[in-house]
Amino acid sequence: MEMNQPAPQNPLDQNHQGLMGRAMDRVDGHLKVTGRAPYAYEVKEGAKPAYGWLVEATISRGRVSAIDTQAAERSPGVLMVMTHRNAPKQAPFAHEGEDRFARPRPQLNDARIEYYGEPVAFVVAETIEQARAAAALVRVSYAQDKGEHELQPLLAKAEKPAGGEGKEPDSHVGDFDGAFAAAPVKIDATYTTPMHIHAQMEPHASLAWWEGDRVIVHCSSQLLESAQKCVAHTLQIPEEKVRIVSRYIGGGFGGKLPIYGDVILSALASRELKRPVKTALTRQQMFHVTTHRTETVQRLRLGATRDGVLTAIGHEAWSHSARFDDFYESAAKQTRSLYAAANRMTQHRVVKLDLPVSDSTRAPGEAVGMLALECAMDELADALKMDPVELRLRNEPKQDPEKNVPYSTRQLVACLQEGAKRFGWSRRSAQPGQVREGRWLVGMGMCATTRGNLLRPSKCGVAMDGEGVLTVKMSMTDIGTGSYTVLTQIAAEMMGIAPEKVRMLLGDSDFPPTAGSGGSFGAASAGSALYDACDKLRTKFAQGAGIDPAQAVFERGRISGGGKSATLAGLAGASGVQAEGEIKPGEMEKKFSQQAYGAQFAEVAVDMDSGEVRLRRMLGVFAAGRILNAKTARSQAIGGMIWGASNALHEDAVVDPRYGYFVNHDLAEYHVAAHADIPAIEAIFLPEVDDKTNPLKIKGVGELGISGAGAAVANAIFNATGVRVRDYPVTLDKIL
Ligand code: MOS
Repeated sequence: MEMNQPAPQNPLDQNHQGLMGRAMDRVDGHLKVTGRAPYAYEVKEGAKPAYGWLVEATISRGRVSAIDTQAAERSPGVLMVMTHRNAPKQAPFAHEGEDRFARPRPQLNDARIEYYGEPVAFVVAETIEQARAAAALVRVSYAQDKGEHELQPLLAKAEKPAGGEGKEPDSHVGDFDGAFAAAPVKIDATYTTPMHIHAQMEPHASLAWWEGDRVIVHCSSQLLESAQKCVAHTLQIPEEKVRIVSRYIGGGFGGKLPIYGDVILSALASRELKRPVKTALTRQQMFHVTTHRTETVQRLRLGATRDGVLTAIGHEAWSHSARFDDFYESAAKQTRSLYAAANRMTQHRVVKLDLPVSDSTRAPGEAVGMLALECAMDELADALKMDPVELRLRNEPKQDPEKNVPYSTRQLVACLQEGAKRFGWSRRSAQPGQVREGRWLVGMGMCATTRGNLLRPSKCGVAMDGEGVLTVKMSMTDIGTGSYTVLTQIAAEMMGIAPEKVRMLLGDSDFPPTAGSGGSFGAASAGSALYDACDKLRTKFAQGAGIDPAQAVFERGRISGGGKSATLAGLAGASGVQAEGEIKPGEMEKKFSQQAYGAQFAEVAVDMDSGEVRLRRMLGVFAAGRILNAKTARSQAIGGMIWGASNALHEDAVVDPRYGYFVNHDLAEYHVAAHADIPAIEAIFLPEVDDKTNPLKIKGVGELGISGAGAAVANAIFNATGVRVRDYPVTLDKIL
């Protein structure tokens, strides 16, 4: 089906079995906590593997001038040392194509070095220890060119990025310059956010082998279709000669949208060695070999009347990309739709640097864009002597102010009001630095939250057998978000069967293609294809039972209607009943501005002497369409909020400006929030059903919680201390 009109009333609305929204435990939870869910590195299929190890460049720009692999080749257990001198020829990196994760990603294709940590050799041995020991014996000499590794000194060299559909770098409405100049109250502030890394619990790993001329790759990928295309394009073989399997994934966050050298090199080496090759990246290697979130510089200009009505909104954002790549962080994206104002401008610029590839990290755009926008709104509220919740209420748009179309659903006002009430916002001191408890200064802050909603083409196959078991197949992934679980709930509710009767098979590119997991579109896209498949299967059962499909009720494994009733198992019989479903985005996404919304509140205490910040409690109130599973949705929301707090207080991937490498390249030195940082956190969802988004009437929740969260913490620090830090993270040295 294509989403060209509002979704009809359907069995998910009726919710006969009460599965929609139920806080059902994860169907794969038991397998995971008992260690029986194999992640890519643990897959035990095929012959005994050899082990690969990457050797990384120690310069950021230049060429390999000489490489001596003799000692490595003579090292015990070594089967192969691959360098640019003997690597099979692959397609060059290309910019064409809509799907940037499907582009060729050649490895060891030439002597050029384009970032520190780029693979320069690949050692394969009988054991991982032998491969690692031999890798240390590879001697590389370089002809080094001077690299550029810092964004801020090079802002003048920034370029307008290419853009693409829905990715226009600039927008202009009305007369921003005139309105800003004339505004009686204004804020002109520049914020900086550092590089972030994904810090998935499961590092990248791959296991590849060949069956004839077809390669099978087990790896940790969010997007199996893109990974399949990428391997095929790189190795210059047909797509059907590549099978990608990712059954269990320990976190993605955007870092597993692309695939990397471990996949390509394992595939190439296993073809030569005629046996499986397994390669894992170390945590340290992940900093350079995979992607990160770019640093940003963001200038916010807000102009308002004295009673807090915005007249001008300007958001300029600078980010960096690898010199050969074309990603940019769309940090001003949400500023186009969040608040009303007659005069507006947004602008994105990018600086090319000799750094590893910058790419999507959870909520690309909003996650850091709202660290700036929502702080600027707090600064404006302070300048107006107005409550920051009230300021947002006064600037609620009637429709999308740049697209000039209605919102599908938008409950920002309800989230703000409900959150303020539940959090005890009225107890906040309007004057900063006034509340003391011993040596602690206490403050409250808030932010609005928004994240765009997407739907992507996906397909699904379903089959009911004579035992009444429904097998679902699609290439969708579960990156830890709960895909297996929510899809099981949809299938069971649609067919009127128990969740235990659903066999949910995901994570294999041999199954019907889906959009995979990314951009918070996973549940909506895969779930809608599943809905369509089940809808067609219901029709087949109704026809089989001689019941009008419109009258048929599916409950407890039976179909009933018009005085007739039959079991699905009996109707399916020995041959079973199958159906295929499909979802395509359509007119609805052009006719309606689609976002999920929320409001977040934080209370902090700041040590007067040391500047140490303690987050005391945090509340998020969200509205994101129908909630499929109260438990997994809450987990997504608080996971995002925790990451937001972590962005506000800790996270900072530091590049040495001389050499272009990440200095704090492990989880001891790159700080993420730990349990002690997050004492009390709660997330609630307001009732909402959005029939403009997809047949499930849901919106994406995966990236909602992080979008803005850190600004609530930074604003609370300001309220506690009166100190405004515009350079994230807000560490104690900046507060003192
Ligand atoms: Mo997301 S950053 O699109 O996985």
